[in-house]
Amino acid sequence: MDDEKRKYTNGEVTVFWNPDLCIHATTCYMELPEVFKPFDRPWIDMSAASTERIIEVVKLCPTAAIDFIMNKDLKDDELVAETPAVFEVKVKPKGPYIISGDFTLQNEDGKTLEKRSRVALCRCGASMNKPFCDGEHSFINFE
Ligand code: FES
Repeated sequence: MDDEKRKYTNGEVTVFWNPDLCIHATTCYMELPEVFKPFDRPWIDMSAASTERIIEVVKLCPTAAIDFIMNKDLKDDELVAETPAVFEVKVKPKGPYIISGDFTLQNEDGKTLEKRSRVALCRCGASMNKPFCDGEHSFINFE
């Protein structure tokens, strides 16, 4: 497992958070503020909602910065993300392209950059971590 990921569990499900992927879309704490509390430490309280509700909200994260795995499915250090059945590209208003599905992102040399179920790609040109969105679009008033 990537050392940058942090994990939180309620014994039934484990939620992983990768701060490098977080674009502060606010979806998690707008949908479930009793669990996702950005000003608390730890910021995810897995005891504050049902497993089903936590999973429902985790699936809304546009970049998979938060993801989950059922504890019964945990093996070694492998993170198996649930993959949507449909490949989809969405344009987030004033923000990045959100790509979801089963895909591999490669650089110009064909080297695999990412293998995951969701990613946010910079559309504004201001990201310091291209091709990924790093949230910079919020500071440049990108339209
Ligand atoms: S679209 Fe988010 S940094 Fe460019």
